[in-house]
Amino acid sequence: MKAKYDFSKGERGKFYNPKAVFKYPQFLQKDVGQKMRLNNKIAIVTGAGRGIGKAVALRFAEEGAKVVVDDVNDANGAETVAAITEAGGEAMFVNADVSDAADAERLIAEATDAYGTVDILVNNAICSTADVLNNNWEANLAVALRGTSHCSDTVIPVMQQGGGGSIVNVASVNGLIGLQGIHAYSAAKGGVIALTRSMAVAHGKDNIRVNCICPGTIQTEVWEPMIERNPQILDEITPWYPLGRIGHPVDIANAALFLASDEARFATGAVFVIDGGLTAGNHQFPI
Ligand SMILES: NC(=O)c1ccc[n+]([C@@H]2O[C@H](COP(=O)([O-])OP(=O)(O)OC[C@H]3O[C@@H](n4cnc5c(N)ncnc54)[C@H](O)[C@@H]3O)[C@@H](O)[C@H]2O)c1
Repeated sequence: MKAKYDFSKGERGKFYNPKAVFKYPQFLQKDVGQKMRLNNKIAIVTGAGRGIGKAVALRFAEEGAKVVVDDVNDANGAETVAAITEAGGEAMFVNADVSDAADAERLIAEATDAYGTVDILVNNAICSTADVLNNNWEANLAVALRGTSHCSDTVIPVMQQGGGGSIVNVASVNGLIGLQGIHAYSAAKGGVIALTRSMAVAHGKDNIRVNCICPGTIQTEVWEPMIERNPQILDEITPWYPLGRIGHPVDIANAALFLASDEARFATGAVFVIDGGLTAGNHQFPI
């Protein structure tokens, strides 16, 4: 079949506008030129004392955000703040249990008292590995699902007043496919995905974007009890990953950075799967 226009000869369709092509709109030029992707933004990261939350907090600070580090572990929370401030960034620690609505309210209040507003909320906290492995329904739902809802519901009016914001929920591949028999965790994470979409639809009009990330296996301290039980576990899991490796917390921090930043201004209700290809298909299917 002959192509309608031979572009190699400079032929164009009737809607071709030479002035419009390859010209960035002003705002994009500005974005691309901006060095700090979260300059002066105020970000709360829950469960930021270690693992993925810590990586997110550090990455956000690196890009100019003032970070409110939330955790129930004082020593770890203080360590994250110290790492940020030692690198020249700005951060504060709040010990708030996100599963408790009053504590979540205090977290948002302390952030707004200190910095005036909140632009970004990352709901990352999770209950203990023991509670995940033992299918503790109460703990999984309370921290992962209700915790996400407590913090989001409280931050929405602050973001509305500030003219918009970005909420990034850390779900899991367990919310998408069946894995490992950790039903309570998987159900809670499936709930986080549904909550993300529901809140995105409700708050688009407020210029508040709500997205979630579904990480595959990420090497954090949560894996320590499982490594103790089976020292080969991460090696055994690796062949499931088409990219040939499991993830690093920074892999998730970079995705959170994109979703939190204005670069993702047209993304809301999105389920951003960052899993090295785990859920792309069954690559071991024998034919
Ligand atoms: N590591 C993985 O392989 C993996 C894979 C998929 C999804 N995820 C998700 O990523 C997120 C972070 O995982 P991680 O591996 O860094 O976990 P982690 O256990 O290392 O970190 C979780 C942090 O949350 C804190 N926390 C626990 N209960 C809390 C509460 N009620 N309020 C506030 N903070 C609380 C803990 O003290 C801890 O510092 C979780 O939502 C997890 O489900 C992790």
